[in-house]
Amino acid sequence: MRQKLIGEGAKELSYEIREIVQKADQIQAAGQEIYWENIGDPIQKNWEVPLWMKEITSNLLLKNETYGYCHSQGIPATRKFLAERTNAQGGVKISENDILFFNGLGDAIAKLYQFIMPASRIIGPSPAYSTHSSGEGAHANAHPLTYKLDPENNWYPDMEDLANQVKYNPNIVGVLIINPDNPTGMVYPLEILKKIVALARQYNLFIISDEIYGKITYNGARAYSLAEIIEDVPGIAMKGVSKELPWPGARCGWTEFYNRDKDQEFNKLFNTLLSAKMLEVCSTKMPQMAIPPIMSDPRYEKYIKENNIKIGKRAEIITSYLKEIPYITFNPTFGAFYNTIIFKNGILKPGQKLKIDNPEIQSIVDSWMTIDMAHDRKFVYYLLAAKGVCVVPISSFCSGLQGFRVTLLEENETLLHETFGRIRDALNEYFG
Ligand SMILES: Cc1ncc(COP(=O)(O)O)c(C=O)c1O
Repeated sequence: MRQKLIGEGAKELSYEIREIVQKADQIQAAGQEIYWENIGDPIQKNWEVPLWMKEITSNLLLKNETYGYCHSQGIPATRKFLAERTNAQGGVKISENDILFFNGLGDAIAKLYQFIMPASRIIGPSPAYSTHSSGEGAHANAHPLTYKLDPENNWYPDMEDLANQVKYNPNIVGVLIINPDNPTGMVYPLEILKKIVALARQYNLFIISDEIYGKITYNGARAYSLAEIIEDVPGIAMKGVSKELPWPGARCGWTEFYNRDKDQEFNKLFNTLLSAKMLEVCSTKMPQMAIPPIMSDPRYEKYIKENNIKIGKRAEIITSYLKEIPYITFNPTFGAFYNTIIFKNGILKPGQKLKIDNPEIQSIVDSWMTIDMAHDRKFVYYLLAAKGVCVVPISSFCSGLQGFRVTLLEENETLLHETFGRIRDALNEYFG
């Protein structure tokens, strides 16, 4: 090409959650059954969307208006419905004009970072959910900025680390929280959220709160929404239907902007995103039409509660398999449907492996190994090859820690026991 096509930022784009599938496909083709623990798609893990919800969406398909474009910002009646829900929480107040729909939060996240000045940085949690960290890194042509979540303290954020980075890096304009968090399953405690709001107020920052798992909490936890705690600080809550309904294939999510009137630059960000949406015409319409009838249905809250009880029970089953293993740091989870398991310091050594019975699979795994490979990735490949369990290495979540992420999604309890029995056996064999 006459000129370079791709900028430095492109190096930051990676999504191991899906890339690992190519490896698992090779192992599957060689005859190993795969236990998919890599992706947060409840439908892939056999969740059934209730019939009453399917009836609502089927009826929408019979309406002619479903097939047209909609307002670039999102259907006004749906935005009004969502604004009222947020206002009912008793915190900051918004109107339908503060809400902007996207084709899933993936789209919202990509656009948000894309339009912020490259030198202006958003600091987010590490381990990091790759869509945020890759988007932030790619916009800045640099490695993503992160603050530490501490596995030795329930995965809570290291507030000293966050405060110091904000203090000494004047380029930081915003703080990202993912609450409940992917990949750790941590739910931010109220005191910590209040400290983050105070920090944002002190340094004139805005807060982004990814609340895609906002309603998914269990075993006594509750996630505070940004609207409840933000007071007068500018902030963006990101919400969607992918996990809650669950309807990830809808590609439907929205942002709620709080305190737009408090800062001109922040308001410009909203207007820029709206212009970008106008250029695109609009986001997927049908899921927007489905939101009010589904979420206002009396069966909805009950359904969410029942799902949370199920996830909470799985969290306990997983805990029973992993809590006594001496080689790992294990934290029970209280929100979202992931758990991040960390290898204890000093435990990873060269030459560790798992026994693989199938010689074809052994040679595939041998071909993957490189000298500079992260140790957790090596464990993940062995776990896949020897036990068929497909998880994601934590070093690929923008983290210096070594470990792996699992999900709490398996509907079939026998399979759940089998999967975590295999993980436990693999850990004991690899490190024992
Ligand atoms: C924290 C977080 N944010 C956003 C997304 C993307 O959501 P969507 O399906 O709306 O693009 C995910 C998907 O797993 C997620 O875990």
